[in-house]
Amino acid sequence: MSLSLPLAEVLESVPVVPLVKAEDPDIAVKTSRALAAGGLTVVEVVFRTDRALECLGAVADDVPEMVAGAGTVLTAEQARQALDNGAKFIVSPGLDDGVVGVAREAGVPVFPGIATATELQRAHNLGLEVVKFFPASIAGGIPAIKALASVFRNMRFMPTGGVSAKNLAEFLTVPAVLACGGSWLTPDDAIAAGEYGVVTRLAEEALQIASIARS
Ligand code: 3PG
Repeated sequence: MSLSLPLAEVLESVPVVPLVKAEDPDIAVKTSRALAAGGLTVVEVVFRTDRALECLGAVADDVPEMVAGAGTVLTAEQARQALDNGAKFIVSPGLDDGVVGVAREAGVPVFPGIATATELQRAHNLGLEVVKFFPASIAGGIPAIKALASVFRNMRFMPTGGVSAKNLAEFLTVPAVLACGGSWLTPDDAIAAGEYGVVTRLAEEALQIASIARS
């Protein structure tokens, strides 16, 4: 999907970013279509399989209703490859200047992971306004986000790692939280069994939780 709105604005209305981890581009496409059918239109295709680049390219090309980004991007080279394969945004587990530099040079949103005030200060001083907060549940959860947000007043957070349907509403009621990410929406067992309806139902449930939390 071409982004007619800045990604941050898209995430304000669809504040849940599912992870897609697939070995097979066809499965990545089917999973993404199932998510889109449930109303989630931003997806992070994670670089954790040998064919992740192909999966990203397939979702970018074949699921036009989806804004597809690359996740688990560890190096500047991977960031370049992600952009060459249609990534509309880049997510990293940590903060790497090379990854941030490649994305920014291309004018593509980049959400590096931070877990401490020092990392957040570096992100802030690189001019970033949105970061991934990872691993959210272990790094202090909502109290940590609130404490960091009270100091870095313009920073928005995308907590990921331990977010689920059970705690999504709590995260999304924190004003500094732009969106939440997670793998609970794409369970390996359901996808392996070809039960894409499960994915759609999880997406619908998340969207409903989000709309109540944000109303
Ligand atoms: C990530 O890469 O963002 C995390 O591994 C996702 O964590 P989760 O599996 O707990 O959602």
